This record gives sequence, structure tokens and C-alpha cells, in this order.
Amino acid sequence: MYQQFYQRFLKANQGKQHYSCHSHYFWPDVTRDAMLAYWDDSAKWVDDKWSHFFKDVVPCVQRHISHTLGTDYPEQIVFAPNTHEFVFRILSCLDLAATQTIVTTDSEFHSFNRQINRLDEMDNIEVVRVPTQPFATFNERFINAIQQCKPNLVFFSQVFFNSGYSVQNIDTIVEAVKDEDTLIVIDGYHAFMAQPVDISAIQQRVFYLAGGYKYAQSGEGVCFAHVPPNTTLRPVYTGWYAEFGALEKRKDSNVQYSDDGMRFGGATMDFSGLYRMRSVFELLLSEGISVGDIHAHVKSIQHAFLFALDKLNHHLVNRDALLVKSLKQSGHFLTFSMPDDDITARLAAFLKEHGVLTDYRGDRLRFGFALYHNADEIDLTCLSNFKEG
Ligand SMILES: Cc1ncc(COP(=O)(O)O)c(C=O)c1O
Repeated sequence: MYQQFYQRFLKANQGKQHYSCHSHYFWPDVTRDAMLAYWDDSAKWVDDKWSHFFKDVVPCVQRHISHTLGTDYPEQIVFAPNTHEFVFRILSCLDLAATQTIVTTDSEFHSFNRQINRLDEMDNIEVVRVPTQPFATFNERFINAIQQCKPNLVFFSQVFFNSGYSVQNIDTIVEAVKDEDTLIVIDGYHAFMAQPVDISAIQQRVFYLAGGYKYAQSGEGVCFAHVPPNTTLRPVYTGWYAEFGALEKRKDSNVQYSDDGMRFGGATMDFSGLYRMRSVFELLLSEGISVGDIHAHVKSIQHAFLFALDKLNHHLVNRDALLVKSLKQSGHFLTFSMPDDDITARLAAFLKEHGVLTDYRGDRLRFGFALYHNADEIDLTCLSNFKEG
């Protein structure tokens, strides 16, 4: 239905079924024009391009993101090449010389997980990792951990990368954090531009991280954070962008921070990703496609996919192997639990040989769905020829 936006990628991948869009979404053709516009602007304005970026491009993309998240503060959106930069910048607000407690889950993406594992080697850092499974009791167990541990930082994903489980009622988790000094970070990468997100009720309290590589269809190098307004945090890991715009008035230090989201800014970065992201927002707007429409389309494809699997009756890839049973609680990819890592890797390679592109994490096989999928193009018959032994 929406395939016309992706002509170049669809042409380049003819005969393939691309179920790894939850990692790398095809780029709509407008992003190619955006790259050319970036080049042209750089050639035209040379060093003066930066004022154009900060006066026009940044505020425009900030407005689109803020609207998508339901926030009232576009100026609180700040950009970086990856979410890891924000993760470490936020961590650098903690007093790492004192005892610090972090409550998180056992299913955070490597950018946070590896970093926190490294910090956990320090005697004064205590990391509490709440298992995400069983999903039905996740909120209750996570909230209990928050209440018991009185953490300095709470970090969790809105949709977990290793299962696709979409946390229900994130507001109630945030409301359970009573200490105003506790930092709260939501990794929204698998939710942003996939499912409708509304952080209006918690916008004063949370950092919300996401980026362009997945459902925002804009590629790498364009990640962002919503920074809670009026924060006085002073990240130790700071770059010169953090001093842009209006500065807070502080006499006891010559390191000044911006009053808005830029206080979590870094340093010189490639802005072509913002051009691409802007072009995607504008495309969707001009076509009248909302995140709700994208979500509804993907859910209908997921139903069709499971229906096709039911007909196939495969002993490995079937509804019983689904980690998240209800499509109402899953993100835009479905995760199937396989007997072991080896079978999963071989099955993914076999599917790839047969033009079915998936990805996997350990013993979990993931199938992602996008705007460019059509129900009548789903064909999984090759699965029947997979030899396990
Ligand atoms: C949940 C989640 N967060 C973040 C990222 C990306 O992290 P970074 O931008 O630090 O590479 C991914 C990428 O796959 C992810 O799945």
C-alpha cells in the first residue's frame, strides 16, 4: 500500500522479504533528496551552514519529535549521533564518587548494558537488574525494586529489544519514583515512530531517548533525547554545544550550561541525519500518514504473518514459540524462542539464502514489519525445507 515511497530500496532488494526493518528500516526515496540538499547547503553556505542548521533544521525536527511524543517543549529535544552518548552523559550527572544505586532490567540494549556492566565493576555502584519475564508481572516487580532500592537512576526500555514486549502504562512506573532527585531514563528506540507514544504526563520527569535508524526511517547518526525542562543537572561529560543559547546564571563556575535541552548537547556532528529525518516527517505529513496509521498497518501485517504460520504448522516457528503472545503487547517485531543459539543462527542463515531476511539475538529469532510490507507477499513456505540436524 505504501510501497511507492521506497522504490529504490525495493528495486535493490527484489525477490526478498525484508523482516529486519526493526533494525534497519528501508529509507524512503525522499531521504536521498535530503542528502543532496545537505550537500548543496554545505556547498552554498560552507561554514555559515551551522547557523542555518541551528536556526532552521534543528527547530523543525525538534517540533516534529516533540509533537510525536506529545510534549510541550520542543526546545528540550537535543541531538547526538547515537543514544550511547546520552546514556553516558546522563550517567555523568551521578556522583560516581559516592554510592549509587541503579534500577534497570535484564533486557537493555548494549549501549546501556555494557556501560553499566563496566560501572558495576566499581565498588560503590550497585546495579539491580529486574528480569523482564514473566511480562505479566513486570511492572509490579519493577515498581517493587524502585520502592525497595531507592535508586539514583531508573533506566528501562519502552519496548525491549530482545523480546519486543511493549511495557504497558509507563506512567505508573514513573509515578512510583518518589524521590525528585532520582533520574529516570526511558529508552524509546523501539517505540518511537512505531507505536503511538504520549509522554505528556511524565515529560517533566523523564529523559526519553530514541533515534532515526529504525522506525523513523532516517538512518544512523540522528539520535535524540527529550530532557526534562528546568533541570539543573550539570553533566560532567559535556561538549561545547551545551553552552549554546540562553545560559543559566551561575557564578561559582566558569562552565556554563544552556537553559534548555542543549545542556545535554555534545560537540560537532554530522547533521545530514537531521535532513533525512525532516524529510521523512514531511513525507508522512504530506501523505496524511500518522504513527497510528503505521501502527495499524503493521499490526494487520503481523496478524497475516501469524495466520500464514498457522497454515504452515512449522515445528519451530509457530505461535507457541512467540515470546510475547498478545499482539497488543508486542512492538513492531515478533520474537520466536528457538531451542538453542546454533539452530537459531542456522535457521536465520537458511531463511536468508531463501530471500527471507530476519535477525536474531542468541536463541531468539526476530521478524520485523514495516509500512512497505503487504499481506499478500508473505511467503514462508521455504521453512518446511529447513533441516535441523
Ligand atoms: C533499545 C535500543 N536502544 C538503543 C539502540 C541504539 O543504540 P546506539 O544509538 O547507542 O547505538 C538500539 C539499537 O539497536 C536499541 O535496540
